[in-house]
Amino acid sequence: MHAPTALSDPDIRVRTATHADGDTLVELISLVDLQLRAEELPGALDPMRHALTDSDEGPLSHRRNHFLIAENSDGVPVGAITCGPAKWMSNPSRSPTIMRRRIAERVSTVHGLAVVPAYRNRGIARALLHHAEETFRDAGYTALTLRHDRSLTKFYGRLGYTSHNRLSLTLPTGELLSLVDRGWKHAFKILSPTASITTVQGMPTITGALSD
Ligand SMILES: CC(C)(COP(=O)(O)OP(=O)(O)OC[C@H]1O[C@@H](n2cnc3c(N)ncnc32)[C@H](O)[C@@H]1OP(=O)(O)O)[C@@H](O)C(=O)NCCC(=O)NCCS
Repeated sequence: MHAPTALSDPDIRVRTATHADGDTLVELISLVDLQLRAEELPGALDPMRHALTDSDEGPLSHRRNHFLIAENSDGVPVGAITCGPAKWMSNPSRSPTIMRRRIAERVSTVHGLAVVPAYRNRGIARALLHHAEETFRDAGYTALTLRHDRSLTKFYGRLGYTSHNRLSLTLPTGELLSLVDRGWKHAFKILSPTASITTVQGMPTITGALSD
């Protein structure tokens, strides 16, 4: 479990979420347009609630998931980030079974990042993402990925992410894993000098992220 950390904004601090933060996280992450039908929404965040009950012995807050909350000086939650394995990682048609564990130990995904409207444009999302990146880097992860709406390409670009229609990753075998999700863009950032973004088949591609 990580201690609360002070930000450059003295009124805001970032802390790891606890199992008592289920409703808070659901409320904050519901600010993200998940492109789901209304009836799909309540259940869509159930895996997150469930993951919050996992032990939090570190380095991530909840086993392979990392949940952070930003709160103001009164302890009121004003932003959150939720990260963990992407769905495609456990899909045999998208991720080779033999590589599954390596992928889950090296690459993680931001599932949600949100700041309440009254606190936007104060650097809170940047701080939450930065905290998450540092923790994943320290835990041996080499790349962080996410899916986003096209309108947020500039936002993630400012935060150092490369956006493309496809998420492409070279496997240690030399094969190329390349995913597309209709209506979404993928963004990725390298966390370790052992990995890089190179151009493969004309696409920005995460290379070296899964090497020994
Ligand atoms: C997107 C969102 C998380 C940004 O939060 P925020 O705390 O206001 O962002 P920050 O203040 O940390 O901004 C970081 C940088 O991005 C810029 N930025 C913020 N929102 C932006 C947007 N919608 N489009 C383009 N740039 C944006 C800021 O100007 C800042 O740039 P700078 O540091 O170079 O000046 C917030 O607007 C939000 O919660 N939106 C609804 C949920 C959502 O869409 N989440 C993202 C998808 S997972």
